[in-house]
Order: sequence, then C-alpha cells, then structure tokens
Amino acid sequence: MYLGLDIGTSGVKAVLIDDAQRLIGKATAPLNILRERSGYSEQQPEWWWEATKKAVAALKQQHQHALSGVKAIGLSGQMHGLVALDQHDHPLRPAILWNDTRCAAEAAMLDTQHPLFRTIGGNAVMARFTAPKAEWMRVHEPDLFRQIRTILLPKDYIRFCLSGAKISDMSDASGTLWLDIAKRDWSEDLLAACGLTVSQMPALVEGSAPSALLSKEIAKDWGMQPDVVIAGGGGDNAASAIGLGVIAPGDGLISLGTSGVVFAVTDQFAPAADSGAHAFCHALPHLWHQMGVILSATDSVTWLAETTGLSVADLVEKMATTNAMDIAPIFHPYLSGERTPHNNAHASGAFFDIKRHHHQGDLMRAVIQGVSFAIADAYDVLAAAGGRPQTLLATGGGSQNATWLTTIASIIGSPITIPKQSEIGAAMGAARLAMLATGLPMDQVCTPPERAETFTPDPKMADALRPARLKSQGLYHALMALEQDA
Ligand code: XUL
Repeated sequence: MYLGLDIGTSGVKAVLIDDAQRLIGKATAPLNILRERSGYSEQQPEWWWEATKKAVAALKQQHQHALSGVKAIGLSGQMHGLVALDQHDHPLRPAILWNDTRCAAEAAMLDTQHPLFRTIGGNAVMARFTAPKAEWMRVHEPDLFRQIRTILLPKDYIRFCLSGAKISDMSDASGTLWLDIAKRDWSEDLLAACGLTVSQMPALVEGSAPSALLSKEIAKDWGMQPDVVIAGGGGDNAASAIGLGVIAPGDGLISLGTSGVVFAVTDQFAPAADSGAHAFCHALPHLWHQMGVILSATDSVTWLAETTGLSVADLVEKMATTNAMDIAPIFHPYLSGERTPHNNAHASGAFFDIKRHHHQGDLMRAVIQGVSFAIADAYDVLAAAGGRPQTLLATGGGSQNATWLTTIASIIGSPITIPKQSEIGAAMGAARLAMLATGLPMDQVCTPPERAETFTPDPKMADALRPARLKSQGLYHALMALEQDA
C-alpha cells in the first residue's frame, strides 16, 4: 500500500493505492484562504497539518487494515508558497500563497536588478514565485524577516510535521527561483539577491528518492508500521505529470484547473524566460520540464457563473444552443493577472465585441474560447522554446468538457487525449513517487493511463477561430498601450 498526500489550495487530498495501483480509498479535507487585503492570499501552515490529519483519519475509518500496510508516503502540493519558520521552527506569519500578488514591485525589482534569475534560475521573476515573497517580507516586515531560520514550501512543511526533517524536492524547489536549475542545487547567488543563505533552505532530494521516515508517534497514531518511507515528492504539476505517465521528453499535458497549465517534459534545462515560459526540474532525476501557466482557466468559468447567477451546468447547456462556428465576443481571461506569456500581474479581464443579440450562452462560449486562446499562447511559447509536446493528455475539471478540448485542439493543431480515470491528479502522482522511493522501477510504476477519448483538431473550427485569436491578441496590446498612457 502507498499513500499520496496532495496539499492543495482548496483542500488536502489523500489517496491510498495498492501494489497494482488500484485506488483503495480517497479522502479530502477542505482549506480556507485568508484574504485580508486585495491581492493577499494566505493560509496558516497548521491548517495544512490539521487537514492532513483529518484526511488520513477519514481514510483510517474506512480502510484501517489497508492503511496499516502502507510502505511509503508521497507528497505533492501547491507550489511557490512561502513558509517562514523561526528558530523554534514555528511559522513567523501565515504562509503567503502562490496566488498572492502583493509582491509585484519586488518581483520587478529582482527581475531587473538580478539577471541571474533568468539564466541560472531559468525564469523571469514573477510575483507568484517564492523569492519575491521573501523580498516583500524583507522590505515590509524586516523584524520578522531577520528572524527567519528556515524557509519551506507547503508540502515540505507537512514533511516536517510527519518526520521532523527539513527537505524539499527538485521540482518544487525550482518554483522558489533560488535553485540552480541545471545543477539541481541551491544557488548561493540567487539566495544572496534576497538576503538569504543556503543554511536557511531545506536539504534537497529527487522526487522519487526516499527523503525521511515517518515519525514513530505518527505511524502509531495512523496505525502504520514504524519504518514508513517518505518520498521526495513533487510540485503539483510535476506530480500530476508523474500520475499521468508524462515522464519522457516530448510527453506533454494540458491541465484545465483553477489555473491552466501546458507542461512538456525535456531532457535538459531549457530556459526561455523572456517568453514567460517556466523551466523547472521534473520530479524524476535527469529530467526537466517547461511549463506555461495561465492563472484563470476554470476560474474564469467560475467567475462567469458567479456573475450571472447561473450554475456552470446551466452555462454549458446555454452554450450548447449557440453555433460552435459562430464568432463569440472576445474574452480576456486575465482576471488575476497573467503569467505566460505576458508576465503581467496587472493584466485584467475583458469582454469585447458584445452585440445586442448575445446571451449568456455566447458569453460562456467567449470564456471557453478566450481561455483556449490563452492556453494556445502558452503552448506556442513552449513550442518556440523547443518544448513542443509530441503527445498531450488533458487533466483537471475543465477537461471533462468536450467542446473545450476540441476548441484547444483546433487552435493548436494537435490532438488531445483524456485518460479514462479522470481523477488521477497530483495525489496519485505523489503515491507513485512513494512507490518509486521504495525502489520499484520507473517503467513499472509510471505507466501511461488507459485512454478514454482523443479530441482531434477540427479544421473548420480552426479557420473560424484564427481571426478571432489575432483580434484578441491585438486587443491585449491595445489595452496595455492605453494603460501605459493613462
Ligand atoms: C504552478 C502554480 C500552480 C500552483 C497551485 O507554477 O503556480 O499550479 O502550484 O496549484
């Protein structure tokens, strides 16, 4: 038996799988977000620990015997969150999360004054990453900053609770922007740019390597044996990729969750920072990945549902009454700023070209198309940087919508496949990393999923959408020019 724990933003998810990777049980414990000011997004690290214990307790209630056979635990989690611990290993403040935008000024400063972030670190400094969050603390909370003994990422805080060990893995550590991505080690220069040293960082292991042992007390509480191994684990996207068998150069995935991701495995560090692409380590040794991230994928649909007072199901139904080839209004999904390709924390959403006859279904189609254009922009950035995926699997809640996948496939001109078990996700990838940490071979563990359906490009739709995409791109630049003049 293997346990996968995903420390997400909206909840902690636990999955229990057996030696044949059959899903034995799963449980989720929800999490709240603190939003004290506009742009702020924080969670107390203790909440993750409480939610982890709750999720495992729920599993124990139903699968006590199976849980007692757990050989290893894998961790995955929301990336980039800043957990700052004092000399007693207590959090100095709530964790500042990946979707917190307060540090845009610090990100811009680090980006212009320290070009090494784009070369060694492989990425433009964006407000979402960990480094500018620490810089924000240095500027705005200097007393607390001086007390930082250790910085951890969310899933690594949970490892600390489970084992007392301060360790991270290469994929998640990449998202701090303090990692020398080619060398797979902390960079003293990048840390120094933020007034930090390697002594404040956790030790590093590969995602599939053993990192620590579960503490005897917790093993006893959870009814497990005393020698349970904890794998290095991975950032949530790298872990999802492991869960989907996206592990060879050329393999790719598109994730349509709250945020949207295009992910491509590479056999070397391939930075393309100027185009807004991320170049990170994969959660497996000797592999890297490129990633394009858009911030509001299904979140754009959620926003439309909230704004119109309709359910998502109603919106999907109303969209079905529109003509798939009709040009909908243009929608810009930059509701929370944008990362790839624009790297613009201040970008905002827009509807354009609305006519009197348009109704809620047209707005929904516009949202689906607008998010698809943004995903295609991210895909193009990876393709230009040498990371064009040869195969694409789709995951995340939005991948259940056939129109959405056909739209994306048509715009990028590449087929997209959905796996049969749609619920694979990061927790399953974490459980696979746990299997690898016990020494099982990669080709046996990281198999591709059973395929449910492949969506191929529709040439008519591609022709119909091409001018709309160009118009949408032109509109972005026109709006940005207006902002700059204002
Ligand atoms: C990846 C990213 C998100 C978070 C939250 O760079 O910011 O995927 O990890 O899930």
